[in-house]
Amino acid sequence: MTNDPFGLRSLDPDRLAARPGVKWQLRPGHLAAWVADMDFPVAPAITERLSTLLADGALGYPNWGTGPSPAARQFVVRMGQRYGWEPDVERVRDVADVLQGVRLAVGMLTEPGDAIALHLPAYHPFLHTLRDMDRRLVAAPFDLDALETTLRAERPRALILCHPHNPTGHVFDRDELLRIAALAEEFDLVVISDEIHSDLVYEPHHHIPFASLGDDVAARTVTVTSSSKAFNLAGLRWAVMHIGIERFESSLRTYPDHWFGSANVAGVEAAVAAWTQGDEWLAAVMEVLDENRHRLSELLATHLPEVKYEPPEATYLAWLDCRAIGSGDEPRELFLSRGVDLSPGMQFGEPGSGFVRLNFATSPSMIERIVTAMAGS
Ligand SMILES: Cc1ncc(COP(=O)(O)O)c(C=O)c1O
Repeated sequence: MTNDPFGLRSLDPDRLAARPGVKWQLRPGHLAAWVADMDFPVAPAITERLSTLLADGALGYPNWGTGPSPAARQFVVRMGQRYGWEPDVERVRDVADVLQGVRLAVGMLTEPGDAIALHLPAYHPFLHTLRDMDRRLVAAPFDLDALETTLRAERPRALILCHPHNPTGHVFDRDELLRIAALAEEFDLVVISDEIHSDLVYEPHHHIPFASLGDDVAARTVTVTSSSKAFNLAGLRWAVMHIGIERFESSLRTYPDHWFGSANVAGVEAAVAAWTQGDEWLAAVMEVLDENRHRLSELLATHLPEVKYEPPEATYLAWLDCRAIGSGDEPRELFLSRGVDLSPGMQFGEPGSGFVRLNFATSPSMIERIVTAMAGS
């Protein structure tokens, strides 16, 4: 029998279907494999921490003093321990979520009408951000020679780097990052690096924080991240931003305290528990995810051989090329009619035509149910 101390492999489908939250409740009766929430139970250290908070009635104003919250301070420790990067604690700020950090950076570092580069397909809220904030999208090719040509032609002000990348699961390696950093220098780009998936990287790949490449790189970079993806805490609304860019820091300082909200006690406590006591749980999750990403290859080969899929280098998101099944721009509709709710490829921009994104952060038997349902069998 498989050792499963955290109950990751034996999820009860009825309990999942009854789970509150948008993933399972948006389309009741469907197998939910869309939004990036995991089906796994939360790490015990987090449950304990939050239970203690409740038992103590500790939901009033926290006693952290001014400056970064304990979670933001823990971010500095974790970056050092896990990635060998020592962010400046004076440049760390709490935010409600990663998107708030990205939007603040876009808003304060660029102007309406400015071009911003982004790798396509792209996490869809980035596309909405550019549209809603009247910035011009420049499609950044993954190929770095092509990226150079694009930057030379389009002269964007900023690059939003989704690192690791959602939805493709690509992990930018050191050579790629160094080249991107050199291009950022040459074309004077601000880099907004969303590293929310950094703890979800599979061996032999490794996450390298973009700002860790050097002081000059950090000085043009805003890093935004959270414990929320790897530890499944998105509803607790806490994230952290490291501000390497002096003029962004000084713009933020012109606003009064709490202008952009302030950190949520439960979110902060959960992040501290995750980053100080959650790694055993995370390792067990990564083991299941690693199995799932390969099992998905086998299942697709058996049940949907026309679908092309490369297991991602990071994330629990599979980017499925369904163009050969002939179901048009949005194969998601076909799969929805078969009872499986996936993310539609076009949501991630034009290159997503004919693709779907499948979330495999669930039990191995649910993956099997999902793929057989997708195949209509
Ligand atoms: C790349 C990326 N950034 C940001 C987010 C959302 O983070 P938050 O809820 O903290 O805004 C997600 C969620 O899936 C994501 O994949």
